[in-house]
Amino acid sequence: MLSSKHNRTELYDLRPRHKRFKCRTKDPYPDDARQNHRVKRQVNQVVAKKAFQLRCSSKDMAMLLDSASMRSANAVYQGSGLLAKNIHVPNNCRDTVQRMLEAGTPHCSVFFETAHTLLQRDFRRRYALIWLDYCGLIDGNKTFDIQPIADIPLAFQHMRRGEAVLAVTFSWRRTKSHALLARVKELLTESATKENYLVHEFQHKIYEKMLFVLVHVYTEGTPRPTPVASSDLGRRLRNVW
Ligand SMILES: C[S@@+](CC[C@H](N)C(=O)[O-])C[C@H]1O[C@@H](n2cnc3c(N)ncnc32)[C@H](O)[C@@H]1O
Repeated sequence: MLSSKHNRTELYDLRPRHKRFKCRTKDPYPDDARQNHRVKRQVNQVVAKKAFQLRCSSKDMAMLLDSASMRSANAVYQGSGLLAKNIHVPNNCRDTVQRMLEAGTPHCSVFFETAHTLLQRDFRRRYALIWLDYCGLIDGNKTFDIQPIADIPLAFQHMRRGEAVLAVTFSWRRTKSHALLARVKELLTESATKENYLVHEFQHKIYEKMLFVLVHVYTEGTPRPTPVASSDLGRRLRNVW
C-alpha cells in the first residue's frame, strides 16, 4: 500500500514541476449525485471484468480517472488482482484529490495532475489497463489542459505489451452519438495500430448523454485473448458492489 506520506508529497510537489498545470479548485463532476447511478456501476463493472480477463500480476499497473468516492478504483482493484499502489489515479481538482486521500480506500496512488502529465512523466511506465472516464468533450477544455484527443495516442505508448485494455467515456452533447462513436473508434484504431497493437474487441454503450467505448488490444506474437471462466469471474467480482 502506498503511504499517505507519499501521496501528500505528490499532492504538494507536483505543481511547480509542471509550469503549465492549471488545477481546478472545484470538480465539475457531481460525484455524490452519481453515487448510486445504475449505468455508472454497470460501466465500472464492465471495466472490472475486462481487468480480470487481463490476468494481471503484482507487477502490472493500471491508470484511471476517478471521483472522490473512488468507485472506479474500487471496482478495478477488486476485479483485477492488481496491487492498490499500482493503480494510478491522476486528478486535476485539488478538492477531489484531498477527499481521495482522506478516504484512503483502496490505497491507490493518487496524483494531483492531469492524465496527460502523468503519462508524459515516465516513458518506461506501461499499463495493463487505462480507464479514462472523462465524461467530457473529446476535444477537451483548454483552460484546464484537458485534451482527451491528445491523451489517447499517448496512452497507447504506455500500454503493456501483450494484452491491454483502454476504456473511455465522452459526452456527446455537441454532436450525434453515432458520429462521435465513429470518431472515437477511428482514433482508437489509428492510435493502437501506430503502436503495433492488434484490436481484439470493441465494446460500446450509449447512455444518457454519454458514450462509453472499450478496446481490448494485443501485440502480435502473443496468443489471441481468451475468455475466462464465468465462475472465476463471479467469485472475483462478488464484492465489487
Ligand atoms: C467523470 S469523473 C470520474 C467518475 C468515476 N470514474 C466514477 O465512476 O464515479 C472524472 C474525474 O476526473 C477528473 N478529470 C477529468 N479529466 C481529467 C484529466 N485529463 N486529468 C486529470 N483529471 C481529470 C474530473 O475532474 C473528475 O474528478
